[in-house]
Amino acid sequence: MFRIQAYQHISTFRHMVASYSVTKVQKPLKDVRYTKLFINNEWHNAVSGRTFPTVDPSTGEIIAHVAEAEKDDVDLAVQAAKQAFRLGSPWRAMDASHRGQLLNRLADLIERDRVYLASLESLDNGKPFSVSYNLDVGETIKIYRYFGGFADKCHGKTIPMDGSYFCYTRLEPVGVCGQIIPWNFPLIMQCWKLAPALATGNTVVMKVAEQTPLSALYIASLVKEAGFPPGVVNILTGYGATAGAAIARHMDVDKVAFTGSTNVGRLIQKAAGESNLKRVTLELGGKSPCIVLADANLEHAVEQCHEAVFFNMGQCCAAGSRTYVEESIYDEFLEKAVEKAKARKIGNPFESDTEHGPQINNVQFNKILDYIKIGKKEGAKLVSGGDRYGDQGFFIKPTVFADVHDNMRIAREEIFGPVQSIIKFKKIDEVIERANGTRYGLAAGIFTKDLDRAMHLTQSLQAGTVWVNTYNIVASQTPFGGYKESGNGRELGEDGLKAYTEVKSVIVKMSQKNS
Ligand code: NAI
Ligand code: MG
Repeated sequence: MFRIQAYQHISTFRHMVASYSVTKVQKPLKDVRYTKLFINNEWHNAVSGRTFPTVDPSTGEIIAHVAEAEKDDVDLAVQAAKQAFRLGSPWRAMDASHRGQLLNRLADLIERDRVYLASLESLDNGKPFSVSYNLDVGETIKIYRYFGGFADKCHGKTIPMDGSYFCYTRLEPVGVCGQIIPWNFPLIMQCWKLAPALATGNTVVMKVAEQTPLSALYIASLVKEAGFPPGVVNILTGYGATAGAAIARHMDVDKVAFTGSTNVGRLIQKAAGESNLKRVTLELGGKSPCIVLADANLEHAVEQCHEAVFFNMGQCCAAGSRTYVEESIYDEFLEKAVEKAKARKIGNPFESDTEHGPQINNVQFNKILDYIKIGKKEGAKLVSGGDRYGDQGFFIKPTVFADVHDNMRIAREEIFGPVQSIIKFKKIDEVIERANGTRYGLAAGIFTKDLDRAMHLTQSLQAGTVWVNTYNIVASQTPFGGYKESGNGRELGEDGLKAYTEVKSVIVKMSQKNS
């Protein structure tokens, strides 16, 4: 098999990347280049001097130690971001089109270093390299470009208001944006938040997940190389209860955007309320249903429902973790779903045929195994997996439960792991009520060839995204976010810009009004 030393020879194979389908690289173990805090376009140790380890989830070994930001470091980063946002600063004075060019330049640099970034992502997070390379880095590039294109197309309206006045609206940046992101898609979560914030002229203090700091720090180096002025982007590594909480409470942070657990989402909203009422957008958990009607293309539905829950080792906010199957096809569906789960290739993320890597860490690993125990105890029937894979790292076999009932904890709570619950239903209105019977509302999937029933379902389901005969399809152009306790606000698409702009109405008195 062709092997490349991704970390040493980026420049030599840069030209190959576009045409070369990279399927196997070595871990960039010896080449973690950035481990400090990125503030004002410079690298800093934490004020306390403390560091913490980040781990390779496929082995449990420490990859590197990174700086541990706390409140003092947050203060420095916010100060830098505030300074970069002051009126007349290079960033505020910059043409909107130039901001777009910088985002496009950043995308070019990511494309240049695509193999290195993908290998860093797989090392730190455990996801298969082919996924990091094709999906995570591929989408990241597209999203920076998409929002780069919006920079000079984000405009207000003229409004025919009553009286002799001329009214127009301006979409202005909110100011210093605090952004707190999780570990399941480190690069993608970073660009979902950075790109719209920068396109609209904000400055940013981002705290990345403590489990996966490495790719975000490398992106910080590219932000500087792309030419963003100092202080516009500040990237901190540290823990949630310290650095994250300091951002949420900060009096000089104008907006906070968070992706992660619903419980922490509540804390963020509370902290905003108790400090300066900063704007809050939240992208939280889910317990999304996939509904398979008897007339669906069965093979396709089985395959999509499998990917819906097992993709990224089940560590997706939108994971389709409740598979509702119509009674008449339940047994056949179950048999095929079990076959698929058993065939999923688990292993080293850097092997070309690996589909399924480890869970992110010991905490998640134990939590998922606990849920599997709970499922068995509550009377669900374990039909595939159910235990760890191998004897190192945090691998869990794709697990399928049959005969699951809505009141079981595995059908109600977010497991965030490779556990599929296959649930029987009889009637369409019954399944709508049961699918909506959750405090979450992030996504839903429908599988049927019947257009009328598909439309009835799309309109009845309480979810920010409804997929029909597909699942987990998200693109830079499509708004994403949750109903109910799955969050507030939308990311991506034109709607994603709303979270990063204030609307200013300007009303000018006119001496005469002609029309
Ligand atoms: P988490 O919600 O604790 O972590 C997400 C981010 O929030 C991290 O950057 C973390 O440092 C930060 N954070 C934690 N506590 C904070 C606080 N008090 N103030 C400010 N920021 C804080 O999620 P965790 O512990 O990594 O995973 C636990 C569960 O959360 C998962 O099992 C899953 O159910 C859910 N989750 C959902 C995600 C999503 O994409 N919606 C992503 C990650 C986790
Ligand atoms: Mg890690």
